[in-house]
Amino acid sequence: MVSIPSIVLPTIFLLLLQSTNSHQNLILSNSDPDPTVANCTHRWIHIRRLPSRFNLDLLSNCSQYPLFDNFCPYLPNNGLGQKTHNRSHSWFRTDSLMLEFIFHRRMLEYPCLTPNPDLADAVYLPYFAGIDALRYLYGPNVNASADHGLDLFDFLKDDNPRIWARHAGHDHFLVMARPAWDFSQPLGHDPPTWGTSFLELPEFFNVTALTLEARAWPWQEQAIPYPTSFHPPSLAFLESWIRRARRSRRSALMLFAGGGGFSATPNIRRSIRTECENYNATQTLDGYAKLCEVVDCSNGVCEHDPVRYMRPMLQASFCLQPPGDTPTRRSTFDSFLAGCVPVFFEDMSAKSQYKWHLPEEMYGKFSVFIPKEEVVFKGLRILDVLMGIPRARVKMMREKVLELMPRVIYRRHESSLGLKTKKDAFDIAVEGTLQRIKSRHKEVAVE
Ligand SMILES: *[C@@H]1O[C@H](CO)[C@@H](O)[C@H](O)[C@H]1NC(C)=O
Ligand SMILES: *[C@@H]1O[C@H](CO)[C@@H](O)[C@H](O)[C@H]1NC(C)=O
Ligand SMILES: *[C@@H]1O[C@H](CO)[C@@H](O)[C@H](O)[C@H]1NC(C)=O
Ligand SMILES: *[C@@H]1O[C@H](CO)[C@@H](O)[C@H](O)[C@H]1NC(C)=O
Ligand SMILES: *[C@@H]1O[C@H](CO)[C@@H](O)[C@H](O)[C@H]1NC(C)=O
Ligand SMILES: *[C@@H]1O[C@H](CO)[C@@H](O)[C@H](O)[C@H]1NC(C)=O
Repeated sequence: MVSIPSIVLPTIFLLLLQSTNSHQNLILSNSDPDPTVANCTHRWIHIRRLPSRFNLDLLSNCSQYPLFDNFCPYLPNNGLGQKTHNRSHSWFRTDSLMLEFIFHRRMLEYPCLTPNPDLADAVYLPYFAGIDALRYLYGPNVNASADHGLDLFDFLKDDNPRIWARHAGHDHFLVMARPAWDFSQPLGHDPPTWGTSFLELPEFFNVTALTLEARAWPWQEQAIPYPTSFHPPSLAFLESWIRRARRSRRSALMLFAGGGGFSATPNIRRSIRTECENYNATQTLDGYAKLCEVVDCSNGVCEHDPVRYMRPMLQASFCLQPPGDTPTRRSTFDSFLAGCVPVFFEDMSAKSQYKWHLPEEMYGKFSVFIPKEEVVFKGLRILDVLMGIPRARVKMMREKVLELMPRVIYRRHESSLGLKTKKDAFDIAVEGTLQRIKSRHKEVAVE
């Protein structure tokens, strides 16, 4: 049952995987000065060649995790998933966990790859860490979570050890498409609790890990946006979507798309549900058909079905982004797509996370902040806060959301040249990583 359909791992992917690091030749042999050719100074990246057990084999085992979803359906289109419908160009049933695969595919078309690690400013590890973690989180290795990563480290140390030794791993980076919390179980925890210990291993302290959510204190990881379902292949598709979102009639003041909130203990999701179910319908609607809408996403029904929540999000002015099991949500990035102004209830949900992609000082311009304690324990009504924001200001915020949106999407691999002129979440993540590695070198030199 390990055979996977050819659609899952298209030949092009396999070919590219074998011929990684060949792009430099393309660039160096290009004799015509071309303004679209990247300036690679300080931007060279070497893709570390890893045995397939660290990446491709993990994908072919997609149906082998009985306690987890079978994730084979999310592999097509180089990890973007199936298209939402046959004629869709930009919309896919994307699973967040596939970001490791998606990122790898994009890395293969990064313009400044070098086969020579000595010339590289950074070394990318194409290890699908979150997928490999499944066997520790849900599978046979649940009692060995302190082992996660040791096999990789042994490989890096033994195979061509010079590459690691050059900067003691400070120039290495990888993507881990889950919250850092899932990889930071303290070593020697007995009995074992949730998570692997990958990020707690001293072996990896020097490596930059790009996660979907970082821990509260500064550590070796950096949060990057969750992948949404929108992956436009060209500038025209991106721009026509932005026009649609801008024109969309906003008939609801606020929307919550998500699950939870049914427990008896007070929490922000429960407060939202209560407020939405009981708001005073005789209150002035200020031009809205309704003040609050809930899209029930319980049991993961929305996860691979963007139509379910994108339509309502396009029709709401504000999208509530309460913390759940962890502070961050993919839905935050869905609301950017919809031009729906995000409402945050704690800084850990975005502001202290995605600093590379969404500048901290701009939050007041594109989002609303309502401390969750005020709502849960002091009776502050979200509706009252949002009703108090003048229409003109809401419109300005929406414009800002749409202006920032291209920075938090992952465009489709092999997208058109025009679209490549706009920095997307991948481009910004790579830029941030190079910058961080540069400053790490300075710190290490000073030590
Ligand atoms: C390329 O970038 C480097 C550093 O950012 C800069 O010093 C150099 O002038 C640039 N070269 C060209 C041809 O733009
Ligand atoms: C894939 O699954 C097989 C059978 O369960 C297992 O023996 C193998 O180690 C797995 N490979 C990886 C890379 O997880
Ligand atoms: C969509 O494509 C699939 C596979 O190519 C095909 O089987 C199906 O009939 C198509 N559906 C529609 C509505 O065209
Ligand atoms: C993990 O350890 C617990 C407690 O010792 C044990 O009950 C369980 O069977 C172990 N699980 C596996 C998969 O070995
Ligand atoms: C991490 O970097 C420090 C120097 O900053 C070095 O002493 C240490 O050995 C490195 N760790 C590994 C696992 O290479
Ligand atoms: C509902 O709103 C109306 C108009 O603002 C107000 O007169 C009425 O007292 C409110 N009812 C409740 C139960 O809050």
